[in-house]
Amino acid sequence: MLEAVERRIGQLIDELEDEDARELYARLPAGKRLRARLILTIAGSGPSAVETAAVVEMIHAASLLHDDVIDDAFVRRGRPSINATFGNKTAIMFGDVLYSKAFHELVDIDRRVARIVSNAVVQLSLGERRDILLSEGFNPDRDAYLHMIYQKTASLIEASSEGAAILAGKRPEPYRTYGRNLGIAFQMIDDLLDITQSSETLGKPAMHDYEEGKTTLPYIDLYEELDEEGRARLVALHGRPLRPEEQAWIVGEMERLGVLERCRQEARELVEEAIALMRNEGEEGLERIALKMIERDY
Ligand code: FPP
Ligand code: MG
Repeated sequence: MLEAVERRIGQLIDELEDEDARELYARLPAGKRLRARLILTIAGSGPSAVETAAVVEMIHAASLLHDDVIDDAFVRRGRPSINATFGNKTAIMFGDVLYSKAFHELVDIDRRVARIVSNAVVQLSLGERRDILLSEGFNPDRDAYLHMIYQKTASLIEASSEGAAILAGKRPEPYRTYGRNLGIAFQMIDDLLDITQSSETLGKPAMHDYEEGKTTLPYIDLYEELDEEGRARLVALHGRPLRPEEQAWIVGEMERLGVLERCRQEARELVEEAIALMRNEGEEGLERIALKMIERDY
C-alpha cells in the first residue's frame, strides 16, 4: 500500500528536474511513514489518498530537516543527518524545496483537506518555536509541555487522520480525536525512549533532550516528585552535557519514583481512548497502528 506513496513522492521529486534535489532525497531514510499509513488505512489507496499521503510525508520530512538544524542533531534514523553531511544551509533549503513542492500539490487537493493540512503546518511551526522558547530554561509546567507537543507533533497526525476521514466521506470527529491522541502519545513515547533506550536502538544519541534544554514529561514528573535538594540538583543539570554518573542519577531517580512507568501509562491511556473510538467505527487497522505505536522501542 505504501509503495504507491513512495512512488508518488519519487515522481514529485523528479518533477523538480533538479539533480541535487534527487540526490538529497535519496539520502533521506523513509522513516515509519505513520502519517501515510493512517491516511491510506482511513481513506484507501485511491489517487487522492495517495496524493494527500505523499504531500503530508513531504511536509513531515521538511520539518525534520529544519528540526535537525534547530536541535543540532547529527544523526537521524541511524544515518548522518543532512545538516551533518552537507551543512545547515543545505538542510534548510532542501527542507524548503520539499515543503514548497508539497504546498504546490496541496492546493489541488480537496479544499477542506487542504485547509486542515495547511493549518496543521502553522501549528507545527508554532509548536517548534514554543519548544525552543520552553528550552531556554527548566520548564516545570506540564500544560505548557502538553500544548507544545500537541502543536509540534500531534497537529499533523490529527490533520492526517481527519483529512483522510473527509476524503473517505466518514464522520471526521472520532478520527480527529484518534489522530490527536495518537500524536500526543507518539511524542510522549519519543521523549520516554530518549531516556530509556540506547543510542544504537534509537538511531540518534540517547539522553540528548535534557542536554538540549528540553524538559520533557519524565523530567517534569521527576521534578514534581523530588524534594527540594533533588529539585535543585535536577535543575542544575538542565541544558548542558551530562556526565555518565549524572545520567545514571537521573534515570535512577526516575526509576525509584516510578516516573517512567507513570509517563508510559499516561501515553497508554491516550492510546486506549483512541482505540476505543476506532473500535466503535469498526476500524481494526487503526487499532493495530495505535497498538504498534505504543509498543515501539525506537
Ligand atoms: C521533531 O521533534 C519536530 C517536529 C515533529 C516538528 C518540527 C517542525 C518545524 C521545524 C516547523 C515546520 C517546518 C516546515 C518546513 C514545515 P523532536 O525534536 O522532539 O523529535 P526528534 O527526536 O525526532 O528530533
Ligand atoms: Mg529533534
